Amino acid sequence: MNFAPPGKLAVLFPGMGAVATTTIAGVMLARRGLGAPIGSFAEYGVVDDGVRGGGSSTTKTRDLVPLAGLDQLVFGGWDIFEDDALAAARHADVLTEKHLDLVAPELAAVRPMKAVFYPEYVKRLHGTWVKEGATKADMVEQLRQDIRTFIKEQGADRAVAVWTGSTETYIEPTAVHATVKSFEKGLLANDPAISAAQLYAWACLKERVPYANGSPNLGVEFPAAQELAHDLGVAIAGKDFKTGQTLMKTVIAPGLRARNLGVRGWYSTNILGNRDGEVLDDPESFKSKEVSKLGVLDSIFEPENAPDLYGNMAHKVRIDYYPPRGDQKEGWDNIDFFGWLGYNMQMKIDLLCRDSILAAPIVLDLALFLDLAQRSGQTGTQEWLSFYFKSPMHDGAGRPVHDLFAQLDRMKATLRSLSRVRALASAAE
Ligand SMILES: NC(=O)c1ccc[n+]([C@@H]2O[C@H](COP(=O)([O-])OP(=O)(O)OC[C@H]3O[C@@H](n4cnc5c(N)ncnc54)[C@H](O)[C@@H]3O)[C@@H](O)[C@H]2O)c1
Repeated sequence: MNFAPPGKLAVLFPGMGAVATTTIAGVMLARRGLGAPIGSFAEYGVVDDGVRGGGSSTTKTRDLVPLAGLDQLVFGGWDIFEDDALAAARHADVLTEKHLDLVAPELAAVRPMKAVFYPEYVKRLHGTWVKEGATKADMVEQLRQDIRTFIKEQGADRAVAVWTGSTETYIEPTAVHATVKSFEKGLLANDPAISAAQLYAWACLKERVPYANGSPNLGVEFPAAQELAHDLGVAIAGKDFKTGQTLMKTVIAPGLRARNLGVRGWYSTNILGNRDGEVLDDPESFKSKEVSKLGVLDSIFEPENAPDLYGNMAHKVRIDYYPPRGDQKEGWDNIDFFGWLGYNMQMKIDLLCRDSILAAPIVLDLALFLDLAQRSGQTGTQEWLSFYFKSPMHDGAGRPVHDLFAQLDRMKATLRSLSRVRALASAAE
């Protein structure tokens, strides 16, 4: 096995809007020492030696496992608008001109390839920079060719992809998603249950490009994609970046559970005004997000184990598109909880965050860790990357883990074990 990160790593984004351009610009700034990649576990995390009971030593993530360096990353992707990454970043209005000016020519050189887009899955957008193809199978072939051309032109050694495209309408996996065979048949027959997001995932898997799904729609979390990832030895992860409100939920809920405090209700609402918010204003796209956000609490509270505390909990999530806020989301949570003898209490959280500022370090970590996983021979669903997702993918039976600290423990354990594999491999050389 080759553990040294060789050559350039191409990072591909299907969807080059606010999150993708904030990530790209941030990496460009960071590698010149003009900005700090705050929030990234790869850059700032430390991993202890896993020995409980104190006295443990810690190692910085980059000293523990061989990750691609920021200066080895090259960026590309697809979008339904022709804007280069500089124009798209300006449109997204997340980073100020002060930051964008410093990397303007480099950002402007990142130009999206033509997208695969079917408006029925994202009803609020009307793209013009799109491919033509008679069948969805044709579209996959065009995307595969794009990947090969990009890697060649950039002189990259390998690639990873992170879906940062808009949230598509809610799709339940159907028979077409069951096996590689049924999916490939569906591609030829233009099956309506196969959306654009799935085509990008399929093309990447076929090219053995590790793939993460940052949005809540069905992207790579279906049996056929899992089968293909397994057969071709590709690392996959998803879905829906865990950034603002859900991040806080998975910090606070484990605390209430640990203290055996009951919860009668948890009401969450958000306002945001970016393009993501506009897309989510369509009820069918919101449904994808709602399902992803609602799954979190049950797995932490396990109401079946403590029905008196959590058996009748009301959980409601809302998102409202409110243009004046742009990317600067505000999320409110009202938690009705109760304690000794059933006495009621309340907690109110008002989170004023910046969506893409919280998402960018997640994207960077996913790109670096998926590449690490693939180079280490860890393929298929990467459950240890659950830390980054609202609806973590998992292959086995049972429930995914949502508790942020349990997820962090799992991620650190995997990084430790990957470092041991590396140590064994270099000892054997
Ligand atoms: N920012 C966060 O905190 C956060 C958290 C969780 C999930 N997400 C998800 O990340 C994704 C990106 O968010 P964003 O704020 O950057 O949104 P955005 O609207 O700024 O960017 C999405 C981009 O995808 C493009 N697009 C849509 N369909 C496409 C297709 N078929 N092919 C190629 N490009 C396509 C759009 O033109 C747009 O430029 C969304 O799905 C969002 O739900 C974001």
